[in-house]
Amino acid sequence: MNMDTNQPLLKPIRLGNLDLPNRVVMAPLTRMRAANSGLVPTGVHAEYYAQRASVGLIVSEGVFVSPEAVGWADVPGLWSEAQVRGWSVVTDAVHRAGGRIAAQLWHTGSLGDPDFHGGKAPLSASAVNPEQQSVTADGRKDTVVPRSMERDQIRRTVADFGHAARNAIAAGFDGVQIQGGYHYLFNQFLNVRTNLRTDAYGGSTENRARFLFEVVETVVEAVGAQRTGIKTGPATSETGAFVSNEETLATFEYVIGRLNEFDLSHLLLMGAMADLSATPLAALAGDGMFRHFRDLYRGNIIASVDMDRARGNRLVEAGLVDMVAFGRPFIANPDLPARFSADAPLAEIDWPKVYGATAEGYTDYPSFQAVPA
Ligand SMILES: Cc1cc2nc3c(=O)[nH]c(=O)nc-3n(C[C@H](O)[C@H](O)[C@H](O)COP(=O)(O)O)c2cc1C
Repeated sequence: MNMDTNQPLLKPIRLGNLDLPNRVVMAPLTRMRAANSGLVPTGVHAEYYAQRASVGLIVSEGVFVSPEAVGWADVPGLWSEAQVRGWSVVTDAVHRAGGRIAAQLWHTGSLGDPDFHGGKAPLSASAVNPEQQSVTADGRKDTVVPRSMERDQIRRTVADFGHAARNAIAAGFDGVQIQGGYHYLFNQFLNVRTNLRTDAYGGSTENRARFLFEVVETVVEAVGAQRTGIKTGPATSETGAFVSNEETLATFEYVIGRLNEFDLSHLLLMGAMADLSATPLAALAGDGMFRHFRDLYRGNIIASVDMDRARGNRLVEAGLVDMVAFGRPFIANPDLPARFSADAPLAEIDWPKVYGATAEGYTDYPSFQAVPA
């Protein structure tokens, strides 16, 4: 079998303070395996991530920064000592297997459900139902009208991100990634449909972005820019309150342009997740997302969504992005870089077992053994 280790995806790169052996990233993947009252990661998490350690960088599943941030069942957190101890076992296992792992810091905002908050509505920028679904212990539920965050709740949430970032480093993570994308809390502030505030956190683009940048500054102060990455960008499902409008592109041009000031480890940029042809984002379809923001952002860009070996190699070769994240492919292919090296076929996902409490469908996908020619 031919081993093509010269392909752009398999070339080393320096990311922040890390030397990575290849440009393949494991995208953050929520897998709902922390089915315990403390939302603590377990030994099965350690085994799962260690199996995937040959990748340049693992980005962990979204990890909640505080009890208030919780909005998806059985997802681990990073605010308590027990969670830090649990994650230490995971990061040790990844490091022993030769890998590197960043913690994705998550707050679901209005995507949470009152079930997670003793019956109280979740927090968000404004009292606007995002018209999405929340994944609860009893299954998917329609979202509700959230509570608009008071100034002290904003201040506390900014501090929660700093605390979780410090906890991540204490737990042995190699860095953190702020989950600033999709429909979650930061995009609820950035989106003019879900942010109706009239204070310093609403109105102008700069005001809507204020909360995000306060968090970026706090996390950078806590763990250093070289260990801080961010996932942000305009890609959403184009449903409910998250339908792109005339403000969307300008908002993200402002956000991503301003991120240049921080010299972060990386920007994880999702490509289009929905048909954008009838939206003001039509030019961002396909590789358009990466072309557009490559011109604006000087740091390392990690591309995500619908990547395969050929597309990933092409994007890196063309200089449009620096690394490429794979989400769904990592579920069934723990050794994806080896499969890319050998151009081996990819295993298929057993979908009913993607979200679940057990090791089945989680740590039982076998490695591919490349046989040299
Ligand atoms: C099962 C599953 C769980 C996911 N969980 C997260 C998550 O916790 N945080 C996040 O930012 N994105 C999450 N995503 C989005 C992925 O990181 C990725 O952007 C998406 O799957 C598209 O990339 P792909 O085509 O390589 O799968 C998830 C996706 C899937 C399929």
